[in-house]
Amino acid sequence: MPKRFSIPHIASSEITPEAVYLDRRQFMRGVGIAAAPALASLATRAQAAPTTGGAALDFAAAAPGQEGFYTDETRTPLDDVAAYCNFYEFGTDKGDPARHAHEMTVDPWSIEVSGEVNKPGKLNLEDILSGFDLEERIYRLRCVEAWSMVVPWVGFPLADILNRFEPTSKARYVEFRTLYRRAEMRGTRSFTSIIDWPYREGLRMDEAMNPLAILSVGMYGKTLPNQNGAPVRLVVPWKYGFKSIKSIVSIRLTDKQPKTSWEMLAANEYGFYAKVNPEVDHPRWSQATERRLPSTFFQPNRIPTRMFNGYEEQVAHLYSGMDLSRYY
Ligand code: MTE
Repeated sequence: MPKRFSIPHIASSEITPEAVYLDRRQFMRGVGIAAAPALASLATRAQAAPTTGGAALDFAAAAPGQEGFYTDETRTPLDDVAAYCNFYEFGTDKGDPARHAHEMTVDPWSIEVSGEVNKPGKLNLEDILSGFDLEERIYRLRCVEAWSMVVPWVGFPLADILNRFEPTSKARYVEFRTLYRRAEMRGTRSFTSIIDWPYREGLRMDEAMNPLAILSVGMYGKTLPNQNGAPVRLVVPWKYGFKSIKSIVSIRLTDKQPKTSWEMLAANEYGFYAKVNPEVDHPRWSQATERRLPSTFFQPNRIPTRMFNGYEEQVAHLYSGMDLSRYY
């Protein structure tokens, strides 16, 4: 995230003793273990990545012609997607999640669905993986920091899981929370940590029900690397990346707009809606263009940013009549 909030590396005294994490059960072994050199400030291309050893998934492949669900733009290589991450629970450097997210236990895992639903309850990971029809979506992801990538996600519509718990007529918003387990998330233990954990995000109900909004369980045909939000994350491609909350453990339907992590930190910089909009600049930088990864200092690969990240046809109706510069 922004410079104002960039903070020093985690002290070596905070490193979890090897015996502690070796003992933990891992859902995906071999994910994100290699250390990526921290050269982000010099060269912004992701460094040689810990390629993932995720399990293969069964899913319907994306195909040309599926409006919004598919793009033929060049996919960002898996190594880049897995190495250049934002997951503040593991540190603020882009390489920190790849270095440390293997310390998070993702099996067993469950998601609690509560609040304004007729049938509150829990789904465990096996139910999630076997209980929904998985499909591939090739989406652009545009970070508020003005870099972007193209990722083939595997997941299912968020609407499918919400409907299963039967939202009541009072359900107007959805609040999501990430796992908060200090022992396994060194970024949350750092004295310089700036977020009020757990990481929280939210959507309006009609946004959540839009077919573009998915819960992802994989990318590139395999289960998600921990650093990209295993085992289940949100992907809302027409919004800035910080809305796409990782490693979700709670989904709560509410009648009031929930507080979200970045809004709590700096409401004038990170709005609840966070729709990608090249005409509404961040107070400290332009949002007119973006660096498409892989991107290097000498070849930044800068391209124009598109309204709603190119998903105008699918989502513009959600905001008709809204002052987009006020509700950013
Ligand atoms: N989710 C959690 N729990 N913690 C985070 O720090 N960062 C967000 C989002 N989800 C974040 C998170 C931001 S700022 C971005 S741009 C995307 O994750 C990045 O996703 P990626 O690292 O898989 O590309």
